Amino acid sequence: MTTLLIRPAARLHGTISVPSDKSISHRALILGMLAQGRSTVRNWLAAGDTLATLGAVEALGVEVDRDGDTLSFEGGTLYEPQRPVDCVNAGTAMRLLAGVLAGQPFPSVLDGSEQLRRRPMGRIVEPLRQMGVDISGTDGHAPLTIRPAALKGMTYHSPVASAQVKSAILLTGLFAEGATTIIEPGPSRDHTERMLRAMGANLTVEGRQVRLVPDHDFLTPFDLTVPGDMSSAAFLIVAAALVGGSEVRITGVGLNPTRTGLLDILRRMGAAVTVEDEDVQGGEPVGTLIVRGGDLSAVEIGGEVVVRAIDEFPILTVAATQANGITIIRDAAELRVKEVDRISLVAQELGKLGAEIEETPDGMIVSGPVRLRGAAVSSHGDHRLGMALAVAGLVAEGETQILDAGCIADSFPGFAQTLVQLGAEVN
Ligand code: S3P
Repeated sequence: MTTLLIRPAARLHGTISVPSDKSISHRALILGMLAQGRSTVRNWLAAGDTLATLGAVEALGVEVDRDGDTLSFEGGTLYEPQRPVDCVNAGTAMRLLAGVLAGQPFPSVLDGSEQLRRRPMGRIVEPLRQMGVDISGTDGHAPLTIRPAALKGMTYHSPVASAQVKSAILLTGLFAEGATTIIEPGPSRDHTERMLRAMGANLTVEGRQVRLVPDHDFLTPFDLTVPGDMSSAAFLIVAAALVGGSEVRITGVGLNPTRTGLLDILRRMGAAVTVEDEDVQGGEPVGTLIVRGGDLSAVEIGGEVVVRAIDEFPILTVAATQANGITIIRDAAELRVKEVDRISLVAQELGKLGAEIEETPDGMIVSGPVRLRGAAVSSHGDHRLGMALAVAGLVAEGETQILDAGCIADSFPGFAQTLVQLGAEVN
């Protein structure tokens, strides 16, 4: 088991880039394999979760040529997998692949790690069944068995703002008779919509409503460059904001508005975050972020911004422990069904460092500023909890040990080296 040792940081300084966007890297493979012709994906993320998707796509008969971080592959026809398709820890892979496999003329089984088997799949099983999909799980969990069936479009009022649910339904809709409409309670990430439109699908968005009419002759392949992942940049943004005297530039970060809730929240807390060199890359806005260290104030966080920052709460909680006042996080019950329960375990592990966090059913109440003290803490196999604890270690007294840190490579290979590049002491 990998352990990271973190010492307090005096100042973080430098210009860096972050690994490519995980959500877009999953989608480039899963949607690309539906295109008629050869797609190229540049700057693809080779991390634990996306490598699971690569394995799954290959198990469906797609031959992927890999040259460094460039992938090239022919989409079109998929083949019956010889064994259960292994999504390892990747919830995005499982939920999106369920939509694709629902439309295939062969049966398949989707499975994954113990961690993934604990995550709720009823949220896709139920709507897919309403579309005629023959899909069954075990008490709403993986493994999922899918058999060929005639599919029909539907209008679905989703009870959760989830891009994975929305994407599973849209992908099923590609193979259904008639239109599929989804209305979401909040603005979940829209990478699937952007990519499907770029591929020629008849997809329209009006407010929180997405409508797909499967009247295209075929989906066109693409040549796409994946931007840097805002959810990986998040750890370095908060690290730079918390360590006094820091100045960090992060280049090529994806700035899709459905992903930038963290920036809005940090600015409300008083953080010095600016954006330069704004551009558009592969249909997604990108830019350079400049972050300087300084004092933060507590804020209340709830409503639509929660969805736009859903993966950032472990690291936002670290920021809240250092902010002046009581930070209240609400409307975030979805955190309980991520890789781990990110309310209870974030509170538990940061508590070991001296943080004062009260758990609520849909969030947390965090008192600050608190002087953190180094201790042994665990990621519990959750990459984002592991990285949040490492950043907490940068502002804690003494040494912080992050146990079970290998999972950080699920989304951010090279995380420790990046911190070292910025001047931190990490072993
Ligand atoms: C993701 C969507 C989010 C997010 C996850 C990746 C995606 O999950 O938490 O890390 O790529 O679609 P939900 O859509 O279930 O909220």
